[in-house]
Amino acid sequence: MSPLLWLWFVIRSTWVMTVLDNPLSWFLGFRGTKNRFDDIEGPFFLQGAPGVQVDEGQAVLSSTELFNKFDPFLLVLEVKDTNGQPVKNAIIDTWQADSSGTYYFFSWTLRGKMITDGKGRVELLTVRPGDYFSRAAHIHMRIQPANLKHNRMTTQTYLCTGNDPVHMSHDVANKFRPRPDGNMAICWATEDPKDGKSYFDLPKLPQEDVDMADAINRWNAKLKEQGLSKNIKSVGRHQIKLTAY
Ligand SMILES: [Fe+2]
Repeated sequence: MSPLLWLWFVIRSTWVMTVLDNPLSWFLGFRGTKNRFDDIEGPFFLQGAPGVQVDEGQAVLSSTELFNKFDPFLLVLEVKDTNGQPVKNAIIDTWQADSSGTYYFFSWTLRGKMITDGKGRVELLTVRPGDYFSRAAHIHMRIQPANLKHNRMTTQTYLCTGNDPVHMSHDVANKFRPRPDGNMAICWATEDPKDGKSYFDLPKLPQEDVDMADAINRWNAKLKEQGLSKNIKSVGRHQIKLTAY
């Protein structure tokens, strides 16, 4: 990345942290009032991430190296309008930390764009992000609808241990506002508990969830095709609603 681009990132992050994400801006109603799913951007967004879609409604955000190092995680995102209708062809620009809570700034690692399918869905294969500093694990998203019918939105999907939103309470972003429990994904472990302990204290995926089981099998086969011996360890669902423009 060029020095000019870096300068732009620094200026933009400063603007975001001092104005857009400032609790006072939210309190005064400049941000966070139109949609309860609206959330902070944080300082680590880089514009210009590449597309990471591999098929219709399917995207891979993590590198093979990170899949080897951490555990594959599958997030099924659904974008709807406030009437529950799917928002198709919306561009979702995501960025996240790896499982040790590290962001990457000198490559596009764990940053990329994808497009919702005809059902407003995207299956995102990535690694489970970890907590960092005083933040609870989350995946950032900027959602840009394909038409002017819906408002664009910046949001986050939180991933909480045991699907317990109390995990989000220690997050510095939630010290100044009501805890955004609606931004938590509901997750499941794919394997039985070991020594009485389940993966991140998550419940096992119910057998009747055949859609998710199909997705897991499909993605595990793709991981194997890539020469990886790892399987998906946890899955999550998150539904986001865009307000009408
Ligand atoms: Fe973050």
